[in-house]
Amino acid sequence: MKSIGTLFFAVLLSLGFAVTSFASIAGTAHDLSGTGGNTQICVFCHTPHNADATVDPLWNATLSTSTFTAYSSSTFDGTVNADPVIGPSRLCMSCHDGTVAIDSAIGGTTNFITGDALIGTDLTNDHPIGFDYDTAQGLDAEIQPSTVALGTGVISDFLFDDGSGTAIMTCATCHDVHNDTNGSFLLTGNTNSALCLSCHIK
Ligand code: HEC
Ligand code: HEC
Ligand code: HEC
Ligand code: HEC
Repeated sequence: MKSIGTLFFAVLLSLGFAVTSFASIAGTAHDLSGTGGNTQICVFCHTPHNADATVDPLWNATLSTSTFTAYSSSTFDGTVNADPVIGPSRLCMSCHDGTVAIDSAIGGTTNFITGDALIGTDLTNDHPIGFDYDTAQGLDAEIQPSTVALGTGVISDFLFDDGSGTAIMTCATCHDVHNDTNGSFLLTGNTNSALCLSCHIK
């Protein structure tokens, strides 16, 4: 039989898990508060007013205008959109292609991403994005249908629809920009390649 002490400890533990399971951007690599003396977190990417109306959602950073070179290979079944970084991917590139300062939203012009987090404009050495997932899946028997589980939902929840019924794979199909619980802002942990195996039947 559990002692009161053990029970109390168990309750504390479960409370601890409940607290840590909340997604939080505070304290992560995407918490840029303090940069340029600004104490806010969201401001570096969003603003409630006077946002960039050409992109969702309420974008505040300067949007990258770079042209990107897409992934290609002889076995890849996807057809990449004319703009490989369609949808949320171009938002990520507001910082990660290295052409726009990370604090552009507050007028910064000199503070650029360097090192591993610099993805650049050449995507030939990056996991393919910018193609319709369901079409590629139909051509490749080793890819899970978009109805299977991924992270907190199913794959299709994380595909981008440009309004014409597309289901485009983007950076946000693997990453949650606001939540670093799984490390590297991933939708699900990648121990034993669990993230990869959510989609690839290997
Ligand atoms: C480093 C950039 C960045 C920061 C900082 C950031 N966001 Fe976002 N946010 C994004 C991107 C990129 C998207 C689009 C992601 C997507 O489509 O999956 C987004 C989407 C959203 C959305 C719409 C989709 C959703 O997830 O509900 C809301 C609401 C939102 N952010 C709120 C916030 C709030 C509130 C903060 C501050 C606490 C914040 N964001 C901080 C980049 C950021
Ligand atoms: C959300 C689903 C999803 C996740 C997660 C995912 N992939 Fe993919 N991946 C795809 C799809 C769809 C394709 C395109 C498949 C095709 O056309 O053959 C692809 C393509 C690839 C390719 C190129 C195949 C080719 O023929 O050129 C490789 C390699 C690959 N993925 C490896 C990985 C690895 C490694 C991971 C984990 C780090 C991963 N993938 C995570 C969906 C996913
Ligand atoms: C406002 C600028 C900004 C935007 C927009 C942005 N990031 Fe970042 N991101 C950063 C900075 C700054 C870092 C930290 C870079 C470093 O450590 O050198 C970072 C780091 C990361 C990391 C590495 C985290 C780690 O644990 O090492 C990932 C993954 C990432 N970002 C993904 C994304 C994705 C995906 C998007 C779009 C959905 C995005 N970011 C949008 C600024 C941004
Ligand atoms: C198929 C899934 C997938 C897609 C799509 C994807 N990433 Fe990642 N990304 C990962 C994984 C997994 C890691 C962690 C790699 C590691 O730990 O070695 C990662 C790591 C990163 C990092 C940290 C630096 C590094 O190399 O470890 C950044 C920054 C990043 N991704 C940004 C992006 C951006 C921006 C996009 C869209 C252009 C994107 N990712 C698309 C799976 C993906």
